[in-house]
Amino acid sequence: MLITRIEKDGLMGRKTGNALATPIAGALGADVRGIDLSEPLSDDVWAALETAFLDHKVLAIRDQTLDPATFLAFSKRWGDVHFYPYMDGLPEEPEVFEILAKPDAQRIFGNRWHSDQMYDPTPVKVTLLYAKDLPPVGGDTLFSNLELAYEHLSDGMKTMLSGLKIYCDGADKSRYGGMSREQWYAKGGMAEKLNAPEQEPVIGIHPLIRTHPETGRKCLYIGDQVQRFDGMSAEDSKPLLDYLMKHIERPEFTCRVQWEPGTLVLWDNRCTCHYAIADYAGHTRRMHRVTIAGDVPV
Ligand code: SIN
Repeated sequence: MLITRIEKDGLMGRKTGNALATPIAGALGADVRGIDLSEPLSDDVWAALETAFLDHKVLAIRDQTLDPATFLAFSKRWGDVHFYPYMDGLPEEPEVFEILAKPDAQRIFGNRWHSDQMYDPTPVKVTLLYAKDLPPVGGDTLFSNLELAYEHLSDGMKTMLSGLKIYCDGADKSRYGGMSREQWYAKGGMAEKLNAPEQEPVIGIHPLIRTHPETGRKCLYIGDQVQRFDGMSAEDSKPLLDYLMKHIERPEFTCRVQWEPGTLVLWDNRCTCHYAIADYAGHTRRMHRVTIAGDVPV
């Protein structure tokens, strides 16, 4: 199967990297070492970081020691904070919230391929996730490059998909085995962070082929928060959605970030999907997260 794909597509890969960022896979993702985010960054370093972010889409900045206030201050350099609609933040920094998996957690937050808050009319631009407590092994995060996924569709498929819109409903219970988000989060041990029940769920309807507002590159904007195509039933949408979801999971489009103590990862939700791996039963994993507001997808 892989041979056939290589014959069809050619070998994938890239050869970029700048002084700051070292690629971790052929498809996307880079490690950044040697900077201290608790200190002000020079204009040169900041510019290199921004370039690396657009080039690599996922940056794992290693060896940081950040309290919530410092983490938030760095996060805000990427834009305005986008509040996560379903949870409260930390008491000391409400714009930072905690992703927690306790040793007996029965579900893991983010354990499905998605871009953050696709169900919002203006989905998240950047997510920043900082490791607080890690399991001894496991708990990695996978990322997929949705631009590569788009580029490796046939021309006929690209034409067929070009007018489609995705319909995403943040309150859709079918994604949670019929449970509410509240029940679902509680299974992971995160109930204490729930927002007020009157918090409005939101619906996003977006182009399936999305153009990046900064690079102009097209991507296949899809994830498990898509219920159906706009104007089509869920039943009619399912075969094509299933095909596209399988397509974005191709290993050649992905990278795997292995967390280390002090790692902060930021990713571009406008052209990537991610998946938190649930392989550390019996251990705690605790992360701090900030999400940055994006714009209306076009
Ligand atoms: C997320 O989906 O935002 C969380 C990813 C992770 O915990 O690795």
